[in-house]
Amino acid sequence: MQLDPSIERIVAFETSCDDTSVAVVAADGAVEAVCSANQDLAHGPFGGIVPELASRNHTIAILPLLEEALSRSKRTWSEIQGLAVTSRPGLVGSLMVGIVTAKTLALAKKLPLIGVNHIEGHILAPFLRDAQHAPPPNFAFPYLALVISGGHTHIFSVRGVGQIQLIGKTLDDAAGEAFDKFAKMAGLGYPGGAEVDREARAGDVKAYPFPRGMIKEDHLNFSFSGLKTAAQRVIQPLSTEDLKAARPDLCASYQEAIVDVLLAKLDRAIAATGIRRVVLTGGVSANSRLRERAQAWAAASQYQLVVPPARYCTDNAAMIGYAGVCRLRRGERSAQDLGPSPAAWTADYQEA
Ligand code: KG4
Ligand code: ZN
Repeated sequence: MQLDPSIERIVAFETSCDDTSVAVVAADGAVEAVCSANQDLAHGPFGGIVPELASRNHTIAILPLLEEALSRSKRTWSEIQGLAVTSRPGLVGSLMVGIVTAKTLALAKKLPLIGVNHIEGHILAPFLRDAQHAPPPNFAFPYLALVISGGHTHIFSVRGVGQIQLIGKTLDDAAGEAFDKFAKMAGLGYPGGAEVDREARAGDVKAYPFPRGMIKEDHLNFSFSGLKTAAQRVIQPLSTEDLKAARPDLCASYQEAIVDVLLAKLDRAIAATGIRRVVLTGGVSANSRLRERAQAWAAASQYQLVVPPARYCTDNAAMIGYAGVCRLRRGERSAQDLGPSPAAWTADYQEA
């Protein structure tokens, strides 16, 4: 396919959930600046994301972050050839803030605009590079991408930009949701994945025989609701004192059950597709036990494992910028009636 070389770098916006992020990204994946505002402190007291609060905070943060990103990249608008914005899937009110900002700039600066699928951003994150990080030199399509975040647990077979096949997904909770709900039960903060990770370091992974949902079933889908219920049954009768004492073991055993299932399904996906290159991405890929086990798993079978740095695994506008710049260079454009969608478009993925 002929790519348009005149689009060298773009500005990208991410506001699909509770992180506001703006980036300047070049066509080779170089992140010239990425500036983000995290809203955990605003939503923490509610134990989950409050959508109205998220949109309001996006409106407050987005323009200062744009100024900051441009200033850090040392670029002016004359050096920017396009705009990208997450338009799906996500919280509609939150998406709207990024979309209105990007559409206004597209009109004012006379720049082409592209609406990006947030998950495609996560999937293409391994191509991002900066002064501290570059992808492995032999990294290329095709690969399997396991996207594990607060809202998603999806396995994709990725053969190119726009050639993304969804081959497995969670039938109930996402992996991050399973961590966060467990953290709440175990008396840890929100979002609790990182705290479970920390507590688990002092615990025994075999202390509690938690169920590994669908691990033996011959398909690539996940289920974490049985695990959550099993943990609830163990935790409920415990006094505060006993819970505190049991917490490291509970965390280690619970986390191990999730890691076992993720790796088992990746094994099945490799067997089914013959693709031996695997990308872990999304907030849960920051999990230290998963990283450690995945490294050993890949080394034992000589799979290529690529886990982007945590700053590109959690929600960020750099990944949206890379997906956007690839699509703009292919000549794709969104019209001014681009709107938010809570779900991915049917055309985004080829279903297995
Ligand atoms: O990708 P992300 O930043 O935002 C979403 O799109 O959801 O992922 C957030 C999720 C949360 O559920 C959080 O608890 C989880 O990633 N997470 C972790 C760790 N760090 C973040 N889960 C397990 N272990 C971690 N170290
Ligand atoms: Zn995400």
